[in-house]
Amino acid sequence: MLFSFHLPTKIFFGNFSLKTYGEELQRFGKKALIVSGKSSAVKSGALDELKEVLEKNGQTYLLFDEVEPNPSLLTVENGRLAADDCDFVIGVGGGSPLDAAKAIAVLATNELKTEELYTKKYTNPPLPIVALPLTAGTGSEVTPYAVLTYDEEETKKAFQSEDIFPKLAFLDPRYTYSLPYRVTLDTALDTLSHAIESYISTRANPLSDLAALKAMELIGKNYDYLRNGDFTPNVREDLLFASLLGGIAIAQTSTALIHTLGYNLTYYKNVPHGRANGLFLADYLKMAYPENKIRVENVLNTLNIAFLDEIELWFEPLLLWEEKVSKEEIIKWAEKSANNTKAKNNTPFTFSAVELEKILQERLL
Ligand SMILES: [Fe+2]
Repeated sequence: MLFSFHLPTKIFFGNFSLKTYGEELQRFGKKALIVSGKSSAVKSGALDELKEVLEKNGQTYLLFDEVEPNPSLLTVENGRLAADDCDFVIGVGGGSPLDAAKAIAVLATNELKTEELYTKKYTNPPLPIVALPLTAGTGSEVTPYAVLTYDEEETKKAFQSEDIFPKLAFLDPRYTYSLPYRVTLDTALDTLSHAIESYISTRANPLSDLAALKAMELIGKNYDYLRNGDFTPNVREDLLFASLLGGIAIAQTSTALIHTLGYNLTYYKNVPHGRANGLFLADYLKMAYPENKIRVENVLNTLNIAFLDEIELWFEPLLLWEEKVSKEEIIKWAEKSANNTKAKNNTPFTFSAVELEKILQERLL
């Protein structure tokens, strides 16, 4: 056995975790840049509680609430300007504000063009990053990735660096109570794709496996609630914990073919990220099966699915497979995804553009 595991984020999980451990923020300096979208930080109650904690700590803040879903490079550039005299950055929201906060933290201390986040080594450490996730899906609060919209390559693309792991993550299930049904479901599908892609990956290791399997178990346990929308506080807590575990898993292994396929639907068709991944989970497991029988069977057992043939039935109520795109788009996406280096390296089976075209046709034509 030879593997490594790196998780430098200090995690606080549970109701009122921010209020309880808010003095932990004191060590990062006098002024925070709060990075969020327009509404969820307010609606969830997180922004008010955060402001209260900062005031109690004697810290000031500036609010940059301009992060849109799937943030652009222009947005993070604007965030850099806002970060001017701030000592640390607090991302509050779903994956988009958290990832934007990571990019802003790097840009604030380095003379980089935004595109160079992908291409250039930077020298100065980023501003310290704190994460308050408000959805249960992304796991970004414990990963070294920031996914931004990269128009030059017509996709969403992650940049990665160990120093953008958040220093602190506060996960409070109460902040997810106000999420609508579809957002809850779609983000749970993101969690599930993180768990499955991490577990069935060339980079899986014994510790990432533990996290991934537990995340799957929690999603399986709450399957009926994901179908009927009965999200009690206990269910919300399970889903947020699953999301954290999915993040811990992909922080070690990264994602694989599913995310690559899903990015097409999000970039070109605005399909929510988690749902875009979810559409291909059944296919991923079927494709993986011949060379990864035991692992695929473990996934099925963990999700309480009796046979591989029943997998579509399991996903059907969660997905309904409603999206339709053109044949031309399918050909283009299949080609592009088949050539994606990360997908090829991390996916533990080979796939061709022709095979991907078949899957995309079946799901999207
Ligand atoms: Fe994801």
